[in-house]
Amino acid sequence: MNASAEALLIGSHLDTVVDAGIFDGSLGIISALSALKALNVNGTMGKLRRPTEVIAFSDEEGVRFHSTFLGSAALAGVLPVTALQISDKSWVDQLGNLHGRVEGMNASAEALLIGSHLDTVVDAGIFDGSLGIISALSALKVLNVNGTMGKLRRPIEVIAFSDEEGVRFHPTFLGSAALAGVLPLTALQISDKSGVTVQDALKENPLEITEENLLQLKYDPGSVWGYIEVHIEQGPALEWLGFPLGVVKGIAGQTRLKVTVSGSQGHAGTVPMSMRQDPMVAAAELIALLESACKNPKDFLSYDDHCNDISLESLSSSLVCTVGEISTWPSASNVIPGQVTFTVDLRAIDDMGREAVIYELSNQMYKICERRSVSCIINCKHDANAVVCDSELSSQLKSAAYSALRKMTSDIQDETPALMSGAGHDAMAMSHLTKVGMLFVQCRGGLSHSPAEHVLDKDVCAAGLAILAFLETQLYSLNIFCH
Ligand code: GLV
Ligand code: MN
Ligand code: MN
Repeated sequence: MNASAEALLIGSHLDTVVDAGIFDGSLGIISALSALKALNVNGTMGKLRRPTEVIAFSDEEGVRFHSTFLGSAALAGVLPVTALQISDKSWVDQLGNLHGRVEGMNASAEALLIGSHLDTVVDAGIFDGSLGIISALSALKVLNVNGTMGKLRRPIEVIAFSDEEGVRFHPTFLGSAALAGVLPLTALQISDKSGVTVQDALKENPLEITEENLLQLKYDPGSVWGYIEVHIEQGPALEWLGFPLGVVKGIAGQTRLKVTVSGSQGHAGTVPMSMRQDPMVAAAELIALLESACKNPKDFLSYDDHCNDISLESLSSSLVCTVGEISTWPSASNVIPGQVTFTVDLRAIDDMGREAVIYELSNQMYKICERRSVSCIINCKHDANAVVCDSELSSQLKSAAYSALRKMTSDIQDETPALMSGAGHDAMAMSHLTKVGMLFVQCRGGLSHSPAEHVLDKDVCAAGLAILAFLETQLYSLNIFCH
């Protein structure tokens, strides 16, 4: 009732230690938000005699930000916010996805889904995933405050997906793939590094998932109108072009492999160099091969008849590969390792070209290992084809971006740029269910998957305004109410 009175601050921290419990920090935030929600529901919130602010602190544990599948920051921070801001219905599904839904004027109409992911990579930035969720919630909140939320012509559902990065369990998109109906039942039995399966991890939270209710999580395609997602660009193009927002034309396909090279474990001081079967040096040669293949795909595939000229051209501009994780056994400085395992993440816009590279690469990797007398197993952990964004949704998002930027400045000269995404997004999984569209938001230096990730406040604001402008196109116009 008195915005100028001294404020009461209530808070705790969102971050966790590695391998954390789910209560440390999050309990304080949930308690405060639940109490505020009770005041909201019983109509007494407006009678508070002083402003009350709940603060979820970003860092108390001094550990770099990290919240992989079902991390406590995810559950603590966003669910109550969802519940507070979207009043019709909010729930957590059995795969840990958080949903908030407003029905609008026509609860049986096809719904617009808006989402992004809650999980992070290790040592992450704070915008990857969360920006999309916050933008959607903020836009809905504006409709709520200005009284137009009830005029939505279709249900709007905001979904905060539980897993997009695939850091804890290697296949990516666990959350969105389940809703799109493309998560295989076997995914429930995949284990993390400590042997905990997806099913057990959910049970600890406590979310009971069975094969039957996994099948039931799939949305009926007839009940969905489309899916949109706002995400930081994670690359430098928008900054170069000087644009806060861009429309995504499509998303590169990706393959993730786990390569296990096994040799002969031995003493670092006694085994002569000529007698070694060292999986570490073999792995080094494989990794160097990977780099040269991805730098010069034309040379690498020049004798390969699986790849046509168009694929080769496209590969030259879009093929990228990364070895981001490597482990050795037994990992001691005076032991020739017995086994080395590393991951390969390989992406391209052209699916045929990507498949041809994987095929040729696997052949050459096996040959190198044979020459070095070590064995090699290549397992495919994830494979997703490239996705083309829907042209109708893209042009609506483009207009929404333009109108958002117009609200912020009158000085806009050029068309909102359209870009390809090298990064994967939940929109890839959701494209199996419905048409998808995405907006990118400029980030500093193109940096992401790093604590240096940063988005300017004004660009966060532009993202929220763009989703708001998009939602405004989903409102019945006033004329409808005149009849
Ligand atoms: C998701 O961030 C990805 O790896 O593309
Ligand atoms: Mn990411
Ligand atoms: Mn992301």
